[in-house]
Amino acid sequence: SFYTMYNLKPVGRFHVQVCGTTPCMLRGSDDIMKACKDKGMAKGATTADGLFTLTEVECLGACANAPMVQINDHNYEDLTYDSMTAILDMLARGEEPKVGSQIGRTASCPEAGPTTLQEMV
Ligand code: FES
Repeated sequence: SFYTMYNLKPVGRFHVQVCGTTPCMLRGSDDIMKACKDKGMAKGATTADGLFTLTEVECLGACANAPMVQINDHNYEDLTYDSMTAILDMLARGEEPKVGSQIGRTASCPEAGPTTLQEMV
């Protein structure tokens, strides 16, 4: 049970893994968890419709874009309560939300773009 990558029982169509480690926690993972709970999810459980399973996990390696979640094979980063809610709504409707940064950053570049080595861009 130490390894969260092993699921000991079937998960829903979307396995929502919310990072709660310090960088994500300091940047608002509580809001992300609240967005999930407001959609009827509970930690360690699958929704009655089989759509979502919610798991809190340790660092998923995208701390520079905290807070973030992994849903199935994709990361969603730079999240807020509203953007997380929108992602969950899109998934429930069968749509494909934009993966990665939700504020338009490329990887972990500053919001306004690179600040160094600009001649190489
Ligand atoms: S602390 Fe959340 S991705 Fe590293």
